[in-house]
Amino acid sequence: MDHFTYQDGHLHAEDVALAQLAQQFGTPCYVYSRATLERHFKAFQQALGTHPHLICYAVKANSNLAVLNVLARLGAGFDIVSRGELERVLAAGGDPARIVFSGVGKQASEMRRALEVGVKCFNVESIPELERLNQVAEHMGLQAPVSLRVNPNVDAKTHPYISTGLKENKFGIPIEEAFAVYQQAARLSHVQIKGIDCHIGSQLTQLSPFLDALEPVLALATRLAQAGIHIEHLDLGGGLGVTYDQETPPAPQEYAQALLARLQKEDLPYTLIFEPGRAIAANAGVLLTQVEYLKMGADKNFAIVDAAMNDLLRPALYQAWQAIIPVKMPAEGTSTQVYDIVGPICETGDFIGKQRALALQEGDLLAVRSAGAYGFAMASNYNTRNRAAEVMVDGHKTYLVRARETYEQQMAGESVLPE
Ligand code: LLP
Repeated sequence: MDHFTYQDGHLHAEDVALAQLAQQFGTPCYVYSRATLERHFKAFQQALGTHPHLICYAVKANSNLAVLNVLARLGAGFDIVSRGELERVLAAGGDPARIVFSGVGKQASEMRRALEVGVKCFNVESIPELERLNQVAEHMGLQAPVSLRVNPNVDAKTHPYISTGLKENKFGIPIEEAFAVYQQAARLSHVQIKGIDCHIGSQLTQLSPFLDALEPVLALATRLAQAGIHIEHLDLGGGLGVTYDQETPPAPQEYAQALLARLQKEDLPYTLIFEPGRAIAANAGVLLTQVEYLKMGADKNFAIVDAAMNDLLRPALYQAWQAIIPVKMPAEGTSTQVYDIVGPICETGDFIGKQRALALQEGDLLAVRSAGAYGFAMASNYNTRNRAAEVMVDGHKTYLVRARETYEQQMAGESVLPE
């Protein structure tokens, strides 16, 4: 459920008409709904109930400071993958003690900063990374809290580019090797073993891959306990899918219940950490865009809009499908035409949607749904386009939470040769 609905034929974000936002802030423009973000976050919290848990929002999905701040106020933890994301969480008022640091390529300087602020855990993905972290912590006279990210070799049954839990993927330590690496970690003087981490992919629409991945993780935890290595938490990553079209992913409640039932079967006390990104942010945002031109052809019609692949890369990169709906509902009986909705960028791959039946005129506003996750966060300046404005709606109030980029900002760090 989200808070983007038609009221008297006009699409609203909560109590605010999107047409008004387009007029006020221009297009393309990302619009987020605070109530939707909060609702999605609380769904995870409530799903875990009294079982010890921490919901670490995956910052990569949408790292706008206002989004992070809204979640921080609800007591969210954060899953970060870079120093940049760490600085954003701190700037947004996030609690460093609730941060988990993921990613295969952490640099020593990033480790230092994370140790300095006191993150909850490093999700370590390889032996060299473990050794480097131990050295960095030793230099600082600290203990680094760690989980090893294990790769359970489970097929997440999602798009190959966002599947991460197979042997052939670059992520994690193969499950068969994990016990030996934990033993190695236990011998290191400046790391402290806290948990086991696992993330098998993104946009999962079934429960079974999550449950399949849990089994080897639990078996590993048991084996470690027998060897005197005690695990406090299981970090099961993110990955819960959302509805873009007809998908029916499990709700957080269903997902958590299945996992908790499995833990309760053996009375396992592990704290559960989740790292949801998409499930919290995707349907809490839309990308607002305006039709510039209608180009009607013998074979195809194009609606050329002012948003492009630099604003929303998912369709071009993954052939992802996102709903595109009119901001003003056309009068009943208005005839539609089939259009490819494309941007102004000089690439054939620059499309937002293909073969969409819409009743369009130049100047019409469209909303691309489910754009709150991996939308702005993946935006670029390709074709020297300024990145879009971002707006947060809260009831009837609106806040510009990122001003549209300017050409001066884009060129600020550049210079011409002196001679
Ligand atoms: N934790 C780790 C270690 C991850 O790698 C990811 C996502 C998440 C959590 C959050 O996953 P989520 O709950 O959002 O599925 N750009 C792609 C998605 C890439 C996801 C990468 N990792 C897209 O637009 O579909």
